[in-house]
Amino acid sequence: MLTFLWKFTVFYVCYTSGFLSNYVTFEDEANIPAIAKYFNTKGRYEEVNPYLREDILAVNRSILQPPSAECRQIHLTAIIRHGTRYPTTKNIKEMQQLYNIVLHNASGEQSWLHELQTQWRMWYTEDMDGRLVQKGVNELKHLAVRLSKLFPSLISEEKLRGGFIKFITSSKHRCVNSTLSFKAGLTELWDIKDMEFDHAVNDALMRFFDKCTRFLEEVDNNPSAVTEVEKFKEGPEVRRVQQKVADILNVPYSSISYDMAEAAFYLCAYEFAIKTVNSPWCRLFDEVDAQVVEYANDLKHFWKRSYGYDINSKSSCILFHDVFSRLGKAAEENMSGQQVTEAVTVQVGHAETLLPLLTLLGFFNDSEPLTSTNFAAQAHRSFRTSHMLPYAANLILVLYDCGGNLRLQPLLNEKPVTFPGLADQASMPLYQDVLEHYKDLLQGCDFETECRLFKQPAEV
Ligand SMILES: *[C@@H]1O[C@H](CO)[C@@H](O)[C@H](O)[C@H]1NC(C)=O
Ligand SMILES: *[C@@H]1O[C@H](CO)[C@@H](O)[C@H](O)[C@H]1NC(C)=O
Ligand SMILES: *[C@@H]1O[C@H](CO)[C@@H](O)[C@H](O)[C@H]1NC(C)=O
Ligand SMILES: *[C@@H]1O[C@H](CO)[C@@H](O)[C@H](O)[C@H]1NC(C)=O
Ligand SMILES: *[C@@H]1O[C@H](CO)[C@@H](O)[C@H](O)[C@H]1NC(C)=O
Repeated sequence: MLTFLWKFTVFYVCYTSGFLSNYVTFEDEANIPAIAKYFNTKGRYEEVNPYLREDILAVNRSILQPPSAECRQIHLTAIIRHGTRYPTTKNIKEMQQLYNIVLHNASGEQSWLHELQTQWRMWYTEDMDGRLVQKGVNELKHLAVRLSKLFPSLISEEKLRGGFIKFITSSKHRCVNSTLSFKAGLTELWDIKDMEFDHAVNDALMRFFDKCTRFLEEVDNNPSAVTEVEKFKEGPEVRRVQQKVADILNVPYSSISYDMAEAAFYLCAYEFAIKTVNSPWCRLFDEVDAQVVEYANDLKHFWKRSYGYDINSKSSCILFHDVFSRLGKAAEENMSGQQVTEAVTVQVGHAETLLPLLTLLGFFNDSEPLTSTNFAAQAHRSFRTSHMLPYAANLILVLYDCGGNLRLQPLLNEKPVTFPGLADQASMPLYQDVLEHYKDLLQGCDFETECRLFKQPAEV
């Protein structure tokens, strides 16, 4: 193993405002690939919230900052992506191809290349097909515990036992397992053994993208929808990365396709996400190379799931209305003096569930679209799936009652964010203002109408 090289322990000490606050070993730092922050949707949640590397259950309640002490949380909806998973069958085939070339055709003196050829084993098998891994189970358990610390009046034993917490999931095994893991996080925390808690499988809500005909026809199954992605993959930035990989392995340029270069990048990502190792695969890329591969994937997400086409976000109308109707019900119950019947809703889905909804709400909307020719100009874009959608990514909406005024706080990956266009309201705008801001969507955005292949003229 290469890792033995790092087995000498060097301590350095961080001083924060005069306190001896923590020790970090050199070993810890060396185990994180330099390119780990560019892994798109295959990145770890810890790279988005680095404080979790030291304490996976850390929360900071003061980030919530309700405008007054009398504010009480009355409802919370969490839309959560499944945890770390194995690669899909398609990824695994590409990894196998690349591994064969490294094994049989590559030559070079580098010790890490030698390590790949003699010690690393291709342990991914096609039957793994995107299943949740143990790390993913732990992520959802830990997230459940952190959310119960952040929102103790809502995510509480009493509310769970009382049936005030609902669980909804996509039917995919990795999502169902993630839901079970989230529930297990809570029942283990409170040592609940005498009760079990249901979840509903609902693909109409959590996999709306599979049900939206217009999206499927015009975007998902339409190769011309991703022209910009294909052009970028044939362009100079990507060609340079492919040639560099071929040069390092000392094989002809023609033997390293874009998919194979990407497979090497994802081998680094999966080895890190699943096993927390900084594998020799990571040595094929520096940060500039990683930014190119990251951009290629962001381009794909932009055109297939986000601002590229209007139907991408509109396909999530059904989830949008579902979320707002639950907020409305909770608001009405609280205002009319009843107990809120659904205090918490936990919904588990995919990156492809969250991204269209975030887009519909207007998050991460840069002034210029991502295209095949503006990689450099987009260096500081806000649209970065590496930041938005790591494993276990989550969008949380918390409804507060502040002495008769309702307020709504959005959080992305446990950090407060502001609804785009409502920025002057800080992080906790009045619920009424949010309804006003999204009124066109609340009055329209009809899934059936939007997803019909040919709109009726009367509805245009
Ligand atoms: C918690 O968050 C607040 C507000 O963002 C910040 O000032 C404070 O330093 C944080 N505390 C810790 C322990 O991180
Ligand atoms: C996921 O669920 C399946 C079926 O219930 C189970 O066999 C498997 O062990 C679970 N995996 C994990 C990691 O929990
Ligand atoms: C790898 O080497 C084998 C012979 O060892 C050869 O048949 C094959 O074409 C080579 N593949 C590539 C992609 O260069
Ligand atoms: C509405 O929420 C506030 C804050 O928790 C609470 O004081 C009030 O009693 C609630 N109203 C009802 C009817 O539950
Ligand atoms: C995104 O930004 C563009 C250009 O600034 C704007 O025209 C569009 O309305 C925005 N979309 C959303 C959903 O906010």
